[in-house]
Amino acid sequence: MNEYFTVADVSQVPADRGLPVRVGNRDFAIFKVGEDFFAIDGICPHKGAPLGQGFTDKERVYCPLHGWEFNVQTGACLDYPDKSLCAYPARVENGKVQILI
Ligand code: FES
Repeated sequence: MNEYFTVADVSQVPADRGLPVRVGNRDFAIFKVGEDFFAIDGICPHKGAPLGQGFTDKERVYCPLHGWEFNVQTGACLDYPDKSLCAYPARVENGKVQILI
């Protein structure tokens, strides 16, 4: 059963980068685009870099290691579509970012 997990304070998520977070033994990357928050799998499928440390440009994040681009809203890999990631619904409750896992 899916449930929302609190992963960060709103103020912790930078506007120009992601934020790596962990729930249990799973890694996720949180992003802020405008006033909205998004979550995708946190590990790059190329060589395992933390996507939450990547720089963003609107809805895109660039892997910090080799620069593959991902859409933070959908998890789509823009360089290699067969390497796309899962995206997870995110919401804000009382100043906290929550993701549905
Ligand atoms: S580890 Fe992400 S592009 Fe290589």
